Amino acid sequence: MGLSITSCYYDAYPEEEIDIIDPVLGVSYADDIVPLWVQCTGCHKESGDAPNMQDNSYNNLLNGYVVPDNAEASILYKSLLGIDGVPIMPPGSSWSESKINLVKTWIDQGALNN
Ligand code: HEC
Repeated sequence: MGLSITSCYYDAYPEEEIDIIDPVLGVSYADDIVPLWVQCTGCHKESGDAPNMQDNSYNNLLNGYVVPDNAEASILYKSLLGIDGVPIMPPGSSWSESKINLVKTWIDQGALNN
């Protein structure tokens, strides 16, 4: 089974740190999402700002910041866009659309701990 290059949505925004997502297997929290948190854990860690995204990040995010299957309702997703009164994250900058959409896809696929 090969990965389809031509039909991949993320190809429009090539970034070396982003893996091409297998549309059948979907986004993996461990492989695709957790590595992104390195840009958050400088502040979001034990005894830092909530949520703690360094230790036990999955459970912490699912504890009020992520609504499975509904990125639009998730504070985590809103924080990446800086909408609905949620301050933009990381503060003072903004992620690429491809990275934000990766998080969106993960949430909309059920926010699995996979
Ligand atoms: C420079 C430090 C810093 C970095 C880096 C940072 N944050 Fe934050 N984050 C904060 C602070 C401070 C708050 C509390 C802001 C507030 O409540 O006004 C916060 C709040 C949040 C919240 C909760 C918002 C709410 O309304 O409850 C989320 C979710 C969040 N950050 C996600 C992220 C993500 C995702 C990243 C990485 C892309 C990130 N943050 C990077 C400092 C940071």
